Amino acid sequence: MTSANTVSKRLQEQANRQGSLPFSVFMEHALYDPSGGFYTRADAPYADYFTSVSVHPTLFGQLLAAHLDDVWQILGRPAPFRIVELGAADGRLARQIRNAADSFSWGGSLQYVGVERAPASSTTDALDACFASIAEVPVGNATSIISNEFFDALPVRLARRTADGWVEERVAREGEEWGFVDRPAPDEIKSYAMQYASATPVGGRIEVRQSVESIYRHAASLASGVVMTSIDYGDISAAVHSKRLAAGTLLAYRRHRASDDVLANPGHADLTAHVNFTQLIDAGRSQGFGCYRTGQQADFLAALGAGDHLVRFQERPDATLATYRAEREAVFQLVSPTDLGRFQVLTQGKGVDLSPIRGLDALTD
Ligand SMILES: C[S@@+](CC[C@H](N)C(=O)[O-])C[C@H]1O[C@@H](n2cnc3c(N)ncnc32)[C@H](O)[C@@H]1O
Repeated sequence: MTSANTVSKRLQEQANRQGSLPFSVFMEHALYDPSGGFYTRADAPYADYFTSVSVHPTLFGQLLAAHLDDVWQILGRPAPFRIVELGAADGRLARQIRNAADSFSWGGSLQYVGVERAPASSTTDALDACFASIAEVPVGNATSIISNEFFDALPVRLARRTADGWVEERVAREGEEWGFVDRPAPDEIKSYAMQYASATPVGGRIEVRQSVESIYRHAASLASGVVMTSIDYGDISAAVHSKRLAAGTLLAYRRHRASDDVLANPGHADLTAHVNFTQLIDAGRSQGFGCYRTGQQADFLAALGAGDHLVRFQERPDATLATYRAEREAVFQLVSPTDLGRFQVLTQGKGVDLSPIRGLDALTD
């Protein structure tokens, strides 16, 4: 039996017991089923998706290390300097940041902790410690929390506005296939919709990510001083749950190709939905992250030296036209507003002043 069948069988057993399932349960199994989930299955899912970390062997981590230097200063130059990465995947970003850390005063005292529910041996090799959940990370010294494309991979529930109010779109077996069925929306979905989806027209779909609040509760409890930097695709709620995106933002990626057939072949597609950054800001605020700064990855990485990287590369004696072009292509991918440069960056601070942060707009309470 293939792993995809295993996932479907497990989902069917659950549906037989419970009737229809929230889409978050389907997504949880499709991505994280212990034997057949997209991120958990044995045959290397990391080859099947592409993020800012995979654009270049060192660049994203090198630029983030410059940001982490700002964070280290803001946190009062702690030693050890603890960095907690959410969604550390195969440890690639950890390795990039470790390599770049040697150029900074905190390099020698870096303590790099990963949070990854589907770790590989390459993940743990790159880390000082690895935990399956943020709830397991011990309380410690002043802490920097970072993540790239972590929140978009958290399971979502689905809801649709009808002329009579909100319904939840749940998942049920229809013969040999999975399909959607409407059920009355529970109160927690209605209250999310009231808070964030007033612009969604009748017929429009929204994704509701319910685990965000608990992530922030644990993040805030890690230390008295915490700076949390989250990079992801998405926007403020008025844009994510807007008339323009009325069809919703949930997509399946199979071998780098996007499809809106999110129920096909669970376990063999990455499932993602845009992040509602207003929800992250609100969840942070309610846990004591009193200030935040935000902006697009393009401006953020430019302020941290993405352009200088090309100037320095050009001066290297071993640089050729071909290698220079490859470097330039990587920088463009990271900063282009039609590519990864359009990603949002959010830095939130608890017990600190964020004004020295480079590359993000100053927004404080
Ligand atoms: C889209 S991948 C991004 C990986 C990496 N950060 C990058 O940018 O290439 C999301 C990662 O987050 C992990 N993940 C998702 N939810 C998690 C959770 N609740 N706790 C720990 N890791 C989680 C997944 O297993 C996966 O490795």
